[in-house]
Amino acid sequence: MAKPEFHELTIAAVRQLTDDSVAISFSLPAELADHYDFVPGQYLTLRATVNDEDVRRSYSICSKSGDPLEVGIKKLKGGLFSTFAQSLKAGDKLQVMTPQGNFKAQPEGKHHYLLIAAGSGITPCLSIAKSVLDQEPESLITLVYGNRTTASIMFRQDINDLKDKYTTRFVSINVMSGEKQDAECLNGRIDRDKVISLIDQKLLNLSHCDGVYICGPAAMVEDVKAGLGAALSDDVAIHTELFTTGDVAREPAVVNVPVDSDALSVRIIIDGAEREVKMNPQSETVLAAAQKAGLDLPFSCAGGMCCTCRCKVVSGKTAMDMNFSLADWELEAGFTLACQTRPLDDSVLLDFDEF
Ligand code: FES
Repeated sequence: MAKPEFHELTIAAVRQLTDDSVAISFSLPAELADHYDFVPGQYLTLRATVNDEDVRRSYSICSKSGDPLEVGIKKLKGGLFSTFAQSLKAGDKLQVMTPQGNFKAQPEGKHHYLLIAAGSGITPCLSIAKSVLDQEPESLITLVYGNRTTASIMFRQDINDLKDKYTTRFVSINVMSGEKQDAECLNGRIDRDKVISLIDQKLLNLSHCDGVYICGPAAMVEDVKAGLGAALSDDVAIHTELFTTGDVAREPAVVNVPVDSDALSVRIIIDGAEREVKMNPQSETVLAAAQKAGLDLPFSCAGGMCCTCRCKVVSGKTAMDMNFSLADWELEAGFTLACQTRPLDDSVLLDFDEF
């Protein structure tokens, strides 16, 4: 994974996708081109001062690899950055972090990928679809995309263009929760039963499917994963990306933090330098404590979803409150999320320079 670092980029163009969503593309100076190489499915963290507040949010890249960087941003109710983003225009400048994320499909070989997205969860799936169809001439893509109405479909034109261009290799299935469609199983929300029903009705053909990518709210992602379990062989990799976690409850690991440890030391290596931070693991995470101490650690969601704050535990014992983004192999290799990590003893050393 590339080292997370911000650069100021200029907005090249803004496309209005729906009444409440835009796609923003960036101009990339030649000297930064390598820094922003991305694998389809990855995201950018955008940073700006909004209402005097330093705000950063991550948005998935929707363009195909090799094309100019473009992200899709849907306005959320009360969303500080997503509301601000609707007024951005060509020529404006934003701080943009180098691409991050584990939700990736590196185009090569011959595959049948199933992409399942709800709402703005389409953005990384669109990048994967465009890139795979363009760069894997024998691969197939099936997209199941859930929205409320036709008017709320982000990237409707892009998806139609893919259907026209790849008539035999791209199948797109729209599921609508607020607009009646002829086939009953295309109505409602995407969940476990919906997936099973699409398979039973033979609208969803999983033959030779060898990779699944699901992106949307946490409850939908976990539900769909359960629905697909029985229909796919065990060796099919299911990749997931969460856009929100608010609807899923998980027990924080903080119960393991010693009660008398009100001032533990954590040493942090970043950009080759080591700093020591005193913190109370009962009341704050490593990221929060480091920010208080004036240390500029990489982060974006601060909610365990994006893995921008990933670092390696070199020594000592730690616990994470939540983890929605690190894969098993990363946990086994000793990686942790600083925004969720609390030290359990006084010998913790975290390395942000390890990738
Ligand atoms: S900042 Fe997103 S997981 Fe920590």
